[in-house]
Amino acid sequence: MATVQLINVSKSYDKVETVHDINLNIEDKEFMVLVGPSGCGKSTTLRMIAGLEDITSGQLLIDGRDVTDVAPQKRDIAMVFQSYALYPHMTAYNNMAFGLRKTTTLAKSEIDRRVREAAEILHITDLLERRPKALSGGERQRVAIGRALVRQPKVFLFDEPLSNLDAKLRNRMRGELKRLHQELGLTVIYVTHDQIEAMTLGTRVATMSKGHLQQVGAPMDIYMNPANTFVATFIGSPEMSLVHCRAGAGGLIGHPSFNAEIQTGQPLAGDVILGVRPEEFSFSARGMARGRVERAELIGAEAIVEVMLDKDRITVRSPVSDAPKPGSDVGVNFDMRRARLFDARNGQAIASGI
Ligand SMILES: Nc1ncnc2c1ncn2[C@@H]1O[C@H](COP(=O)(O)OP(=O)(O)OP(=O)(O)O)[C@@H](O)[C@H]1O
Ligand SMILES: [Mg+2]
Repeated sequence: MATVQLINVSKSYDKVETVHDINLNIEDKEFMVLVGPSGCGKSTTLRMIAGLEDITSGQLLIDGRDVTDVAPQKRDIAMVFQSYALYPHMTAYNNMAFGLRKTTTLAKSEIDRRVREAAEILHITDLLERRPKALSGGERQRVAIGRALVRQPKVFLFDEPLSNLDAKLRNRMRGELKRLHQELGLTVIYVTHDQIEAMTLGTRVATMSKGHLQQVGAPMDIYMNPANTFVATFIGSPEMSLVHCRAGAGGLIGHPSFNAEIQTGQPLAGDVILGVRPEEFSFSARGMARGRVERAELIGAEAIVEVMLDKDRITVRSPVSDAPKPGSDVGVNFDMRRARLFDARNGQAIASGI
């Protein structure tokens, strides 16, 4: 068993708070991804869990035990960094065995067994006698993961472990990490700024912005029901379009580009922002809205088309055959039932369509 609980966790540097009041429960065997833009406090949060940063206020529990003030090496946690931090003068084998030799009383034979088992799992058995400079980026990353695996910790922490790899290798390692998590039943907390990595790896995703936790949920739940306009536009690529509408009476909304007011099916207290995913728009001469095409990118089978609906820029994913030319006037359609509604005053979701 390994659960991790953050209770009202905050971090200040020189009295400036950078992580604010985080409450998060990570379940046993969960793959929790912390995702958000650069500087939002992901690494700081992870480092507080590892014990590499003090927790300014709040509590951290591992398996229900308060470890807020427990030294990092006594937390039963292993961390894998973006930089791998391997010892350059040691072989892959010794890089993996070193921590066990230093910090445990395990017999040599048990250390050997664990290193060889981890190497098998990571497909690096043939590389064990090589030093880091004779390994590729992906192979180094495997050694760094192996070093964490041999310790058999309760919880694995990863801070952007794939960001130094090229796109193809990153993709493959993503698959490997997913496999390891499933096969070995690991509890993982994984930091990335890449929302695609978050969506594909996480059993749940915690989205952060400016030191605040915005929303926690299964990837598709967050994608389908973002809690606010930040999450709506951060998760999903191309991003969700936001159309700023005026609220009329009886749940109707209006916009300078709409041909008529649209019924939301909701009683509305004030102006709203309509959120529509790129795949939910289509071009149609008799569409609900009219706009001017700004840009059209043809990417293989489909086109990504940016259209101005008055002052709002929307993004439409369409078949190449339907893609209009830049500068043309187009009709745009969307299914109101699949659109999201946000309160224009604070960006919070008010309902999930009709
Ligand atoms: N030692 C420090 N002293 C002062 N401020 C710090 C310190 N470490 C981090 N910060 C600040 O805390 C905020 C959060 O930093 P953090 O490294 O957690 O961001 P991040 O989400 O991991 O970003 P990135 O995606 O760029 O790695 C930033 O504004 C950063 O400047
Ligand atoms: Mg970071």
